[in-house]
Amino acid sequence: SKKLWVDLDTGVDDAQALMLALVEPDVEILGISCVHGNTPLQNVLQNTLRVLKVCGRLDIPVYKGCQRPLLSPKQHASDYHGKDGLGDVPDPDPPSLDLLQKEKAVPAMIKAIKNNPGEVTLVATAPLTNLAVAVQLDPSIPKKLKALFLMGGNVDSRGNTTVCGEFNFVADTEAAYVVLERYTCPTYIAAWEFSCRSSLPWSFCDQWLGQCTDKAQFMKQITAFSRSTAQSEDYETTQSTAGKGFNSCDCYAMAAALDESLMLENEEVVVSVELEGAHTRGMMVVDYMGLLKKKHKAFVMKKFDLEKFQGMLMKSLQ
Ligand code: BDR
Repeated sequence: SKKLWVDLDTGVDDAQALMLALVEPDVEILGISCVHGNTPLQNVLQNTLRVLKVCGRLDIPVYKGCQRPLLSPKQHASDYHGKDGLGDVPDPDPPSLDLLQKEKAVPAMIKAIKNNPGEVTLVATAPLTNLAVAVQLDPSIPKKLKALFLMGGNVDSRGNTTVCGEFNFVADTEAAYVVLERYTCPTYIAAWEFSCRSSLPWSFCDQWLGQCTDKAQFMKQITAFSRSTAQSEDYETTQSTAGKGFNSCDCYAMAAALDESLMLENEEVVVSVELEGAHTRGMMVVDYMGLLKKKHKAFVMKKFDLEKFQGMLMKSLQ
């Protein structure tokens, strides 16, 4: 079976991504590390347990990770994910936080990777604080990973949080830098504009979320707030997704980790992160000329098998 470690800041698309993995029979999730991001860590923990509960998978260990960025100012994305990170839908019977593991996320992640050398695929759809701290504590981690799949960054200069910055890279810019410098394992990046280009038509969303299951009903409810934001005229104009549909960014990174054949075309490039700049801090930088003298290249996703991807999303709510 495929062994995964998942690092999340459970907002709406993280929840969707996690549900993709939960239905795969041949996938073992060794652990989920939670981190600040879309919403404060306390909500992320609660949201992650809520998703696992709906899927009957509270057996998967969930760990508490970093609650603040290394240096960047703390920020959340409540405009898009709601104040609680899952669209502010009341939960009459929330799972108890006592279900969380007592061990902290970073040591647990390091242990899982070291106990399964060469076997763990790490999927990170959040600010990269936990991953950056892990490699500082144990520099051997990247060599022991099978692969790393990230949602974050942007290849051109179009941001979604600042003029040139994507949320996960802006919310912990130094961590993104450390990860792109030090994780020399095979690295696959689903960047912001790739997910915009590959967004899900609204007609598909109706089919996907309209399935007659508890999982679909849960997903439909928690997605309603983001959906109405994404369909508002303002959002469509600033994010340039007008009429294109729902952008479930984190699902691209997760789906590609589950089935690499979804990636029809990738570009292998040297990437880094801008640490300064009034408008460009947090922007992903592509070094086409090799001026940074970095050996390690990452695969930036270019083209996806959208039909197969939609099939996986349908299956995840059945
Ligand atoms: C990223 O930021 C968050 O809002 C999403 O969950 C995704 O990980 C997109 O920029």
